[in-house]
Amino acid sequence: DWQMRDYAQRSIAEIREKVGDGKVLCALSGGVDSSVAAALLHRAVGRQLTCIFVDHGLMRKNEGDEVEEIFQNQFGSNFIRVDAQDRFLSRLAGVADPETKRKIIGEEFIRVFEQEGKKIGRVDYLVQGTIYPDVIESGAGEAAVIKSHHNVGGLPDYVDFKEIIEPLRMLFKDEVRALGTELGLPDSLVWRQPFPGPGLGVRVIGAVTREKLDILREADAIFRDEILRAGLQREINQYFAVMTDMRSVGVMGDERTYDYTLALRAVTTTDFMTAQWARIPYDILERVSNRIVNEVKHVNRIVYDITSKPPATIEWE
Ligand code: XMP
Repeated sequence: DWQMRDYAQRSIAEIREKVGDGKVLCALSGGVDSSVAAALLHRAVGRQLTCIFVDHGLMRKNEGDEVEEIFQNQFGSNFIRVDAQDRFLSRLAGVADPETKRKIIGEEFIRVFEQEGKKIGRVDYLVQGTIYPDVIESGAGEAAVIKSHHNVGGLPDYVDFKEIIEPLRMLFKDEVRALGTELGLPDSLVWRQPFPGPGLGVRVIGAVTREKLDILREADAIFRDEILRAGLQREINQYFAVMTDMRSVGVMGDERTYDYTLALRAVTTTDFMTAQWARIPYDILERVSNRIVNEVKHVNRIVYDITSKPPATIEWE
């Protein structure tokens, strides 16, 4: 893709000029955006870049270990994984409002980076994988605020990085993928489905608890597994489970149950600004539903989200 080759070359030159011999800190989430941003920066400034992966305890099943495995190889000692689970969960305790949760998670992220940055020594720049739709939806320019995305916006006063570098700020998702491929990233990473910065924090509806996170992680892993088995992983652009804050009555054997309702969400889209609910075949939905209620404790009802965006958003919060 000559356009992306050109974009990569221009960005690399710009980044080199801007950064000079400064030190750069990268917020790596393991998602497509931050991974491509990291790869671009790595190409531009090599060992001047350090990547920090904050394990906020809001990752999908096994995701933390997978991210570590991929990037430890690429960046070696310049890759740092921080276990900040307890910190995030205690700050989120009892907080039910979606925007407040996002704000808390975003603030906590910045604090962890600041602390890690200090350990590394002087850090001049912070890299973020903000892409164009994030910019628009955060209300930059004329667009109305729909949801605040934690990775956009000015830095709080107490942060002493010089500047944030957002090399993907002008790109749509498909362009970010093309750039990742251009930079030599493996397909498994480039085609990883998007995952929001606040992670499962916005997929547990209402107050986040360890128990709900664990239920969600197991159910979500089953859903993803069945989508892969059915070979639908490229056709469907984003698919995940949502832990609702609702419980309902069910029956198991001859016992009455009163347990959680879990929702499945799957969409097709090109730019994530609009999206259609995915027409997953009924037999696959049935298998997912059976497996989840059989394999995951405390779930007795599964619903499938059949709203498109707009009027719904892809995430439930
Ligand atoms: P919505 O729910 O607004 O999501 O239709 C559009 C896309 O953005 C992702 N998303 C986020 N990504 N921080 C992120 O980095 C966030 O706070 C956030 N909220 C939503 C969402 O997963 C979808 O791909």
